[in-house]
Parts: sequence; structure tokens; C-alpha cells
Amino acid sequence: MITPPSANSAAAVLQKISTPMTRAAIFLVVTVNPADADAATVKSLCADLSALVRTVGFRDPDSGLTCVMGFGSSAWDRLFGAAERPLELHPFREIIADTRHAVATPGDLLFHIRADRMDLCFELETLILERLGTSITVAEEVQGFQYFDNRDLLGFVDGTENPADQEAIDAILIGAEDPGFTGGSYVITQKYLHDMAGWNSLPTEVQEKIIGRTKLANVELDDTVKPTYAHNALTTIVENGEEKKILRENRPFGTPGQGEFGTYFIGYCRTPRTIEQMLENMFIGRPPGNYDRLLDFSKAVTGTLFFVPTSTFLDNVTPGDPAPAASPADTSTVTSAQLVSPVRDGSLGIGSLKGNSS
Ligand code: HEM
Repeated sequence: MITPPSANSAAAVLQKISTPMTRAAIFLVVTVNPADADAATVKSLCADLSALVRTVGFRDPDSGLTCVMGFGSSAWDRLFGAAERPLELHPFREIIADTRHAVATPGDLLFHIRADRMDLCFELETLILERLGTSITVAEEVQGFQYFDNRDLLGFVDGTENPADQEAIDAILIGAEDPGFTGGSYVITQKYLHDMAGWNSLPTEVQEKIIGRTKLANVELDDTVKPTYAHNALTTIVENGEEKKILRENRPFGTPGQGEFGTYFIGYCRTPRTIEQMLENMFIGRPPGNYDRLLDFSKAVTGTLFFVPTSTFLDNVTPGDPAPAASPADTSTVTSAQLVSPVRDGSLGIGSLKGNSS
């Protein structure tokens, strides 16, 4: 269903955060150059982004091309003014613990481009960069791919415990806690490089204890054998009896000729706090010192945090005005069919979020 994009309409259209895992992805992070004209160029792209996605995606609707756009903390203030800002938007918080370092790196805008074909992702990225021209500087550009049955380059299936349906909605969409930005989300990204020789020198049983699942069959280790430092133990957060979930769309990447093998981590959540807590557990440890052994073989070389507004917000950005009016909405009316991108039905339709007209 496509809803008319109007800041004052009773319906806000969501960006397509949750899509079926695609075979290809491009992660593009840029900084906006200092001139006022640079900021104006970025703002003029916002309203046209959905048209660019249609331009490329319509040529092969079955490939499910999508693009999520996010804004870093200082970029938000510069582009839209600091008066009305998402409650929890702040720069990525670096963590240093012994030799482990979750670095914070520059990033004003994120484009998370996904499709079943890399050429579609590539074409869309090219058009976006053409539009942005000299107004931006590319900070990160990673082409990710599906590796066998959604495995990371360490050989484990990645993404199994992602929430789906209503659980995904509850996990990733901002609700009544920030009424001006309902239907938005936060996203944290980190580019990790793996020490493949070191990892491959470990016996499979040791690797399985580090991840917390079996390698071949992807079965979760029983609590009686799973160490408290296992990756899936440290990233499980329970508060008041309720498990806090995030949506991960990680992708492997690499250039074997350069000895580069990595995982691009990308996690969406209605609050950055959940992902930050997971990072603290991984890097510092729970309790401190009981850290994620994955980090002995994986080094974070980037770290950024962005706010993802609704599509309606983007559609209403104009270069002259500070920020479009917020589109109050009621996430309790979102269905999973609206949240999940309706790819492969040829419509490239967009989910809608019914407004709270009261
Ligand atoms: C080197 C980078 C990473 C790799 C290779 C990796 C790999 C994996 C694998 C193989 C699993 C088990 C299967 C699954 O449920 O997906 C997993 C689970 C998980 N990971 Fe990661 N991960 C990485 C970084 C991160 C980071 C930075 C976070 C969060 C800050 C994170 C959060 C999670 C969560 C929440 C789960 C599910 C835990 C559960 O409920 O069982 N991962 N990851």
C-alpha cells in the first residue's frame, strides 16, 4: 500500500528496514562537506531518494532493491536544526578495554542499500553519489555479499536469532517514547576485520564455544556447555524478564588478494542503548574481563550511529526549511506486512504507519 507523502497527513510511511535477507548489500557512509551549499545538496536528495530507488528497482522488481538512509548526530543538527531532534541521537560511543577497542569514526549519512543483485546496488549507489557530487566525502564504502547459507567468513550462520513479525516491530520502531519521531529507528554500524589464520587454527569445538552455536548444523549450545563468554550469551540482554532484541543485517565482505576478510555489522533498534549494552558486554565483558573471544580474532575498524527517520520525513525535506513537521504516528497499528518490505511482489510498495489522529 502506498500512502500519500504529506507531513500533515494522518499516515507516515516507513523506511524499509526489515527486508528478507538479500544476496548483496552496499554500506555507504559519507560526511557532508562544510559549505551551506553542501548541506542544501544533501537535503535536496532526501525527497528524491525514493524516486531513485524506483528508477533502478523497477528494472528488476524481483530483486527487491531497497535503501535505508540514516543521519548522524551532528549532521542532524546541521541539516534540520537542534530544536527538534530524536531523543537518543548521539555520536557513537567508543569503548576501550585492554587491547579491545570499539572505535568511533566519522559518519554524517548512512545509505544501507540491499538487493538480490549487486549490479542494482551498485547502480543506485552511483546515482546517489552523482547527486551528492562534491558536497560529500566518502568515509566508508563496503560491498557485502551472501556467503553460502548466510554464513559469516568465520564459517558460522549469522542472523538466526533475528526477531521477526511483531517482535521485529517492537524491537526496531520508536513508539510513544519519542512522539515526534515515532516509526523511526536507530542504527549502529561497525566494520570488523578478521584474523583468519588465527581463527582457522582453532579447533572447531573452541570456535563453537566462542560463538555459542555448532558450526555445521547451527544449533545453539546447551546452557550446560555454553560458556558465559560465548558471543550469543553476551549479546543476550534480559531486562525485567524480557529479552531485548535488535535486528542485524550483517554481511561478509573481503578482498582476498589484499588479505582482507571481514564482517560488516549493522544493527537496528528503537533505542541505541540496547546495542551499546551488547557492545559493553562484548568489549568490557560481563562481568568485566569476561569478554567476547570473537574480539581476539576480529578488530573493529569503524563505528557509527545514525537515526533513521520515516520515509514521509525524507519526502518532506526541502533545502530551505530546517526540518519537516514531525508525522505523529501510532506504531501499535503497524502490521508485520507493513514493516517488512514487500519485495518480490513487483510493487516496490511501501509500508505505512497509521497516524494517531487523537
Ligand atoms: C565480528 C562481528 C560479528 C560476527 C561475526 C557475529 C556473528 C554472530 C553469529 C554467528 C551469531 C549466531 C547466530 C545468530 O543468531 O545470528 C550472532 C548472534 C548475535 N549477535 Fe553477532 N556477530 C558480530 C558482531 C555483533 C555485534 C557487534 C553485536 C551487537 C552489538 C552482535 C549481536 C548479536 C546478537 C544480538 C546475536 C543473537 C544472540 C541470541 O539471541 O542468540 N553481534 N552473531
